[in-house]
Amino acid sequence: MKVIEYNEYGPAHVLKQSQKEVPLIGNSDILIRVHASSVSAADWRMRKADPFLARLFNGILKPRKVNILGFELSGVVVQLGKAVTRFKIGDEVMATTGFKFGTYAEYVAINENSMVVKKPEGIQLSDAAGVPVGANTAVHFLLNKGKLTRNQKVLIYGASGSVGTYAVQIAKSIGAEVTGICSKHNSELVTSIGADRVLNYDDPNFKLPDNYFDLVFDAVGKTSKYKVSQSMKSKAKFLSVRKGTATMNRKNLEMIQTLLENKSLKPVIDKIFPIREVICAHKYVEQQHKKGNVILLVDGHF
Ligand SMILES: NC(=O)c1ccc[n+]([C@@H]2O[C@H](COP(=O)([O-])OP(=O)(O)OC[C@H]3O[C@@H](n4cnc5c(N)ncnc54)[C@H](OP(=O)(O)O)[C@@H]3O)[C@@H](O)[C@H]2O)c1
Repeated sequence: MKVIEYNEYGPAHVLKQSQKEVPLIGNSDILIRVHASSVSAADWRMRKADPFLARLFNGILKPRKVNILGFELSGVVVQLGKAVTRFKIGDEVMATTGFKFGTYAEYVAINENSMVVKKPEGIQLSDAAGVPVGANTAVHFLLNKGKLTRNQKVLIYGASGSVGTYAVQIAKSIGAEVTGICSKHNSELVTSIGADRVLNYDDPNFKLPDNYFDLVFDAVGKTSKYKVSQSMKSKAKFLSVRKGTATMNRKNLEMIQTLLENKSLKPVIDKIFPIREVICAHKYVEQQHKKGNVILLVDGHF
């Protein structure tokens, strides 16, 4: 099968097309023919070993454990392990492989009991590739850790990225009052996905209300508790994507599946690249100004 791999840390052009064996499946695995993958912040950070600590995970001098990037996918089930019960051949699915990465490839094998669910009706297969990681991260921080409830007031800092756009919609879906912070040119987007109020971090008159929020979620890791503390109620929590890793939780993914089905959630897709243009896609995402998600079309696009 064709894959995109990297064998040295560095700029986007270290990504090269190569050939690998189609993965063998175990009894509880399904083999997925990958339709699309996303390009996420985790991908370019692993490619560049930025932060340096990535080398402790993936090899000090060169990448050893993970050579094929890609954290999430959509695709079609083409083979079943003997013990598989949740899926059948032909099912359209979306999944994240977590820190195993490996979705810049024509085929991925994944345990049926891991972070994989059927693609909901009414969402395109390519768009579904941008769902699992950003949406699971938003649910993890807002609901699992933040315990956000109906009518509470939440501030979402960095509301225009992948995690941020899911966070705005998920907070709205449970009936919270949402204030989103983004740049001026993303105001319309953040309003369109349901934020009750949008503030612009690049507005010279930017000011947060005093003693107002029950929860502040920094969805891009660009602010601090110190900077927003005046706007937080005395018992309010401050959570950030920079502090802690979202647990991969299939219950979260199933909840996300339901929200997509009932149209309370819609992935925001910024750009779609064929996988042969993976270098352009990485250069774009690395600028950290994408709106929502960037997708790589895999099947038939090498
Ligand atoms: N902890 C975890 O488990 C976990 C899981 C997933 C992701 N993450 C991390 O979460 C972060 C966000 O990832 P992402 O994919 O959602 O988005 P991203 O690509 O990192 O960020 C893109 C968005 O951030 C906005 N942005 C850039 N600078 C900003 C600033 N100073 N203030 C407010 N917004 C700003 C950009 O809007 P403008 O162009 O308008 O500035 C853009 O829409 C990444 O650092 C990623 O590594 C952590």
